[in-house]
Amino acid sequence: MTDPNVTIRGSRSSERRIGILCINMDPVSREGLETLVAQTPGAHVVDNVDRHINPREVMRMLEEFQHRVCVINFDEGEESARISQRIHEGCDTSVSIFAASSDAHPDQIIAAMRSGCSEYLQKPFRTDQVADALAHVEARHQGKLPGQKGQVITLMGAKGGAGVTSLALHLALNLVRQRQTCLLVDQHPALGDLALCLGMGRHQYSFYELIHNMDRLDVDLLQGFLLQHPSGLHLLDSPEAIHAFSNTPSDAIEHTMAFLAENYQFVIVDCPPGLSEDTCAVIRQSDHLAIVITPELPAIHNAIRSIQYLTGLHYPDENIDIVLNRYSRKNPLSEREIEASLHRQIAVKIPNDYDLIVNAMNAGTPIDLARKSELAAAFDTWTDRLVANESVAEKAGKGSRKLFSLFGS
Ligand SMILES: Nc1ncnc2c1ncn2[C@@H]1O[C@H](COP(=O)(O)OP(=O)(O)OP(=O)(O)O)[C@@H](O)[C@H]1O
Ligand SMILES: [Mg+2]
Repeated sequence: MTDPNVTIRGSRSSERRIGILCINMDPVSREGLETLVAQTPGAHVVDNVDRHINPREVMRMLEEFQHRVCVINFDEGEESARISQRIHEGCDTSVSIFAASSDAHPDQIIAAMRSGCSEYLQKPFRTDQVADALAHVEARHQGKLPGQKGQVITLMGAKGGAGVTSLALHLALNLVRQRQTCLLVDQHPALGDLALCLGMGRHQYSFYELIHNMDRLDVDLLQGFLLQHPSGLHLLDSPEAIHAFSNTPSDAIEHTMAFLAENYQFVIVDCPPGLSEDTCAVIRQSDHLAIVITPELPAIHNAIRSIQYLTGLHYPDENIDIVLNRYSRKNPLSEREIEASLHRQIAVKIPNDYDLIVNAMNAGTPIDLARKSELAAAFDTWTDRLVANESVAEKAGKGSRKLFSLFGS
């Protein structure tokens, strides 16, 4: 084991921006990583530890760095995920975890992301891959990822009260829990519920005011419009006014959405029910539209009509996913019947748990998804697939984001 102080001797503290600790790394990969890391100013590989390091040791070994990274060798079997989980749970958010593996199978990527890894580096390491991952570490703490297009996931109810706000909120929080940068947009042109459900005060300005200032839109302007939740989630609020914002140019909505996607890994949009012009403009900029249904005939009927309408407008059919909310085995309409009516598979099922959800919404304290529950497991499955999709798309190049079907149906 090398002494960390030897590796970085001679560095001025201003140059000690990113400290990297390898865990269980084979000598060839470690050497390769050191060479590539040296190309990022201020980044240093501090050491390689071949033992089950505990979170306190990680913090101690990397304490002099502003950003801390553990690169765990995932070619070492299930133990790697356990080490990652221990570090993820025991260290603060200044620590990012990267998985390193020669296996790029989606199941392996999902396992790594689920255990707390925010990046997946495939061996042998490549210059651009390592440089991107390190850029993400710094950008993540500023809440942005320069030059990278994130995924826009829009949730729309097939009818009012289908559960869009509850689902958008918990999906976004779960993405943040998996160390993804995430912006939640309340697209209601009046009186949206998200700020209230997150237990936050209203913002003076909303998503719509941001759109109306599109001509001077940049990262600094955006900062002034954001509500920041303690979890790290950012929110663009809906207007508090009773009278809905109207006459918003569709191209300004599209431009704003494209800009937001460049600044986060995920943008989750809570839409009002119905396909208004504003909502259609948001959908056009969305990588995926999740139509939220409940197991009732009117919701299924409306979902069919919405899909027909949108595909008629050339929105790609494969980008539309059905999310069945309030799912229970006791539902009078079976999954098979619902899928047969819709001519497509249900992509995500969120179980029915009225008490848990309504109490969380009333208290302005979202459900703790770190605690085991059926609801938490359903959100984990949804989140894992989104994150895996992001990783696979990044590896394959930004143009092929659709390569790995979002919900892996
Ligand atoms: N999985 C669930 N299990 C049980 N109840 C749920 C579930 N999801 C949402 N609900 C309940 O359904 C009601 C409507 O939820 P929510 O406000 O999220 O829906 P919405 O689609 O955003 O409604 P709106 O159309 O008014 O915006 C709430 O009372 C909420 O607690
Ligand atoms: Mg709502």
